[in-house]
Amino acid sequence: MQLNLVLLGPPGAGKGTQAGGLAAAWDIPHISTGDMLREAVRAGTELGRMAQTVIDAGRLVNDEIMIGIVRERMAQPDAMSGFVLDGFPRTLPQAEALDMLLDGCHTLVVVDLAVPDAELIRRLSKRRLCTGCGLILGATKGDPPTTCRECGGVLCQRIDDREEVVRERLHVYRRSTQPLLDYYGDRSTFRAVDGAQSPDSVAAAAADVVEALAPVRRSA
Ligand code: AP5
Ligand code: MG
Repeated sequence: MQLNLVLLGPPGAGKGTQAGGLAAAWDIPHISTGDMLREAVRAGTELGRMAQTVIDAGRLVNDEIMIGIVRERMAQPDAMSGFVLDGFPRTLPQAEALDMLLDGCHTLVVVDLAVPDAELIRRLSKRRLCTGCGLILGATKGDPPTTCRECGGVLCQRIDDREEVVRERLHVYRRSTQPLLDYYGDRSTFRAVDGAQSPDSVAAAAADVVEALAPVRRSA
């Protein structure tokens, strides 16, 4: 039995913040298409060079490429007992391709993290990433953090977290990704979670949903 989980939600909703804990609790890999693309950018591959321009402008990499990347990743041995998808699908063709990949044989649990726009913009302006351990940091009040609380590492800001790019990402989300709420909305394995609560409360609510809907028990 597999736990196949999709975390939906706009930029800054907390998909990356929540995915790691859920993946650890169910002992399945966290598959973040944004992280995979940023890794390709860092490695300077052909995909990375193409993706960088698209990401920095806040637009979407084309469906064929993204579906190919996810198909390949899902075929890795560690994904045989399931996965947490973060950032995929984000268009209708990607959602349809995911259903095809699961071939109707495996349940897909879909959790939407709902957060108001003003809070998304606030969060993204303060988000920092640790260049050492990869931790995502933020600030609920005051200035953004300057060093990593876990490893003391240097923090960086994503280029696509600049205000004008965030506006474009939110626009692209409304146009291309929000329709997935209708695509999944009437499935019995879809739930919306209030993503504007504290990170711990969101984590507990998301885990409760997965616990209730998943065909497998958590391992931790
Ligand atoms: P991707 O990296 O997936 O970006 P995104 O979907 O825009 O989402 P974010 O990573 O910005 O937000 P998040 O929901 O993970 O929030 P986080 O947990 O960091 O994609 C980047 C780009 O790659 C795309 O724009 C596109 O170009 C391309 N791409 C990727 N996948 C693609 C695909 N499938 N198809 C086509 N193109 C694709 O949290 C945000 C901040 O809030 C942090 O500072 C965090 O600490 C804080 N925070 C989190 N939760 C809370 C909380 N409950 N309360 C207070 N603060 C919180
Ligand atoms: Mg993310």
